[in-house]
Amino acid sequence: MERRVRRPPSVRGEVTPPGDKSISHRAAILNSLAEGTAKVTNYAPGADCASTLSCLRALGVKITPIAASPPTIEVQGVGARGFSEPDTVLDAGNSATTMRLLTGLLAGQGFFAVITGDASLRSRPMGRVIHPLRLMGGRIYGRNRDTLAPLAIKGQELHGLDYTLPVASAQIKSAMLIAGLFSQQKGRTVVREPAVSRDHTERMLQAMGVKVTVEGAVVTLMPPAGPPKAIDVRVPGDISSAAYWLVLGALHRNARVEVRATGVNPTRTGIIDVLLRMGARLRVENERVFNNEPVADLVVESSELTATDIGGELIPRLIDEVPVLAVAACLAKGTTVIKDASELRVKETDRIAFLVAELSKMGADVQELPDGIIIRGGGELRGARCSSHGDHRMAMALGVAGAVADGETLIEGAEAVEVSYPGFWQDFDRLVSSQLC
Ligand code: S3P
Repeated sequence: MERRVRRPPSVRGEVTPPGDKSISHRAAILNSLAEGTAKVTNYAPGADCASTLSCLRALGVKITPIAASPPTIEVQGVGARGFSEPDTVLDAGNSATTMRLLTGLLAGQGFFAVITGDASLRSRPMGRVIHPLRLMGGRIYGRNRDTLAPLAIKGQELHGLDYTLPVASAQIKSAMLIAGLFSQQKGRTVVREPAVSRDHTERMLQAMGVKVTVEGAVVTLMPPAGPPKAIDVRVPGDISSAAYWLVLGALHRNARVEVRATGVNPTRTGIIDVLLRMGARLRVENERVFNNEPVADLVVESSELTATDIGGELIPRLIDEVPVLAVAACLAKGTTVIKDASELRVKETDRIAFLVAELSKMGADVQELPDGIIIRGGGELRGARCSSHGDHRMAMALGVAGAVADGETLIEGAEAVEVSYPGFWQDFDRLVSSQLC
């Protein structure tokens, strides 16, 4: 699908982003291996979280939709050992979180399973999850000398492990913590990260009665004697989806946007910290808590942004927001340097290469680094024919770029938004007035 975008005269209104994708995956997976039935309200509507549900159903979990708005499901936990062998290959679609977290779960089952995904997911690094799970006793094999999916997993008795991740990754940390749940009486699982990554798994396991302790970037899980207790989860709005409206509201000259009920877990709020540092008129209001997860309403207004440096420990706190932050940097006064972000090269696409390619087409002064991008901002963006390359976050970032550029932008592959934010273009149309300048 192609989508044409022009700069609207104003960007005004309220928007409620879809349920958080990371929390939704975890609410479905952890409640599946728990004891009891749980209701998950505001489950993320995109294709990624649907992939998690279809894989869990193929493993014998009963998951029933019980309301459409907000999307609500009921998950009947089967307990740690109650999954059944799937009779066909599991398909994680485009979702690395599905594949990596379920690999942790499957490593400790008493059966054989194969998990695959789309072409993008089959090209993403899986050695990083295979390696620690093998050290825990797992038998996992993959293509290309055990580095790529499809993955074949022969469930085993697992044991705990003290492991240092070479790169901060909530997906690998979570896969290990889930595997650690199955290493009954065989030692604790300790995951050490170079920087703190999102901690939704830790928070949810704690709420389910599992002994998980966190000290800085070190997480320790004691294997529980029985299955975790199922818990109802009300999923906050996804700050990674809110990010597009925060940047659009700050960049557009006639804007005021209220983004409602958004998760503001400190391991995810790098985007807020950076926008504030760049001078955004952004307020965090009505802070509250949904099941161990902080939530707030965010209000953003037209702002004069200045450049900033983005790197180090900040990167895991905003890794998925870099595409839209790069758009902000194009219009901010001065030079923004994004570094220490080579992980961007192994996301749904190589986001460093494609951001440089697409923003250059719009006249941005951008330079590729091995681990980031230098953006000399302060100029104007001009409309151009661009491509999402099938990457949802590229499609939405280009939508924001098009809405602050001179002239018309045409985005090829605009339907990629379905992966995390199926209502993105509808929300976009609602926030911009119909009369174009
Ligand atoms: C996620 C972790 C991050 C993030 C991804 C979702 C998660 O990936 O980029 O979109 O839900 O755990 P890594 O764990 O690979 O850094």
